[in-house]
Amino acid sequence: MSATKPDTADLKRDRKAKARSKKRLGGGALEGNRANSAREQKLYQNYKDAEWGFINHWYPALFSTELADGDAEGIKICGIPIVLRRAKGKVYALKDQCLHRGVRLSKKPLCLSDSTITCWYHGYTFDLESGELVSIVAAPDDKIIGTTGITSYPVEEVNGMIFVFVKEDDFDEDIPPLASDLPIRYPENNERFPHPLWPDTPSVLDDNAVCLGIHRTGFSNWRIAVENGFDAGHLLIHKDNPITLAKDMSLPMGIKCTNPEGMVPIEDDDGPKGFLQLFYSSDHFVPVLENKVLDMKVDGVAGRPYRTSVVVPGVLMVENWPEEHVVQYEWYVPVTDDTYEYWEVLVRVCPSEAEREAFRYRFDYLYEPLFLEGFNNCDLFARDNMQDFYADGTGWDDEQLADMDASVILWRKQASRFARGIAARPRGVAGALKATSQQMRDTAAGEAPAYRVRKAPKIL
Ligand code: FES
Ligand SMILES: [Fe+2]
Repeated sequence: MSATKPDTADLKRDRKAKARSKKRLGGGALEGNRANSAREQKLYQNYKDAEWGFINHWYPALFSTELADGDAEGIKICGIPIVLRRAKGKVYALKDQCLHRGVRLSKKPLCLSDSTITCWYHGYTFDLESGELVSIVAAPDDKIIGTTGITSYPVEEVNGMIFVFVKEDDFDEDIPPLASDLPIRYPENNERFPHPLWPDTPSVLDDNAVCLGIHRTGFSNWRIAVENGFDAGHLLIHKDNPITLAKDMSLPMGIKCTNPEGMVPIEDDDGPKGFLQLFYSSDHFVPVLENKVLDMKVDGVAGRPYRTSVVVPGVLMVENWPEEHVVQYEWYVPVTDDTYEYWEVLVRVCPSEAEREAFRYRFDYLYEPLFLEGFNNCDLFARDNMQDFYADGTGWDDEQLADMDASVILWRKQASRFARGIAARPRGVAGALKATSQQMRDTAAGEAPAYRVRKAPKIL
């Protein structure tokens, strides 16, 4: 180690000077030189208000393999309970809250025809396409039939993934294309965002794209999770990870932005909205490989040029990762205000069966255990541990962001400008009210608050 030890007298002097420049704010927070000044915060108020997520957007709901023909599964996105049903190969999505007395249809799915789903309690029966109430098992002549219904949601199934457009009940605009809520694509963006080193990054929407991944529930607000994904200063948490050591990765401790043009806003009229970070470009970013004050140095030698972007409603793309020809997508789908579904999906274009098999093999034995689980579990741990600070909302005012958080602030502003709606606190939904006796009973029985509905036992 060649770095010199910090001089304690210098450090003390520095701390005193910094303390003098601090200004006390309301609520006990200190302004100092923080990057998220009160003026900056005003520019992302919509984001601060979006504890239940951004609504009127496309979100991944299930992998295709998780919904067999004839089955129905319940999930929750932005606090909205949603039942997905596959009938004759096609997937439908309806609000999973019976009109009659509010039970979840997915708890004990009852499908009496290919075009309907019936509530297991008194038999309200809904058309899968429109959500209209078309019959009631217990009262087939009731005058309410044909006059009301539950919200239905547009669905797109592509290359092994089921996406749902999660919308407000009264949303009456044209449904935007799925591509407007997915990362930018190549080769059409090659001219704008050329990359000298690697082949075109694949997309979920490409012909012959194979999407392999996992999803699991994280226990923090969704915004904390999104921000961790592209955080330029967080690589410290991956420093001692087995894959970092095994691959002898020269993973920097941070990535310092030297030219703000390295964070490029993405805001095309009909396309996705967000920004892209040109991490690989030495004209815009320099890796932090050493901290002389703390006598730390990065040891690995295998550098890996990569680039990240994030688009509304919170979709990360890490190009050229974990390996060339592969891209990692991440979604942090709001479930409630304190849980999110963490999706990690790797995409590769595989035109032949042999290529599909080879990709699957690497996924099963390398990417899934060592990257998606091994490497990214560090991120999951960090997010869960931020939740206490942000749980009551005061963390968004009190956090002391630094210059290394410039991309976090840019994301918040872009999301505030371009999100199509802020999800309201849901009505009559588990998680909206904390610690009901039912939730405590479920927790005591070993059922963590979760994304997916746990179905009733067969005989009940
Ligand atoms: S609660 Fe659904 S039919 Fe009564
Ligand atoms: Fe990370």
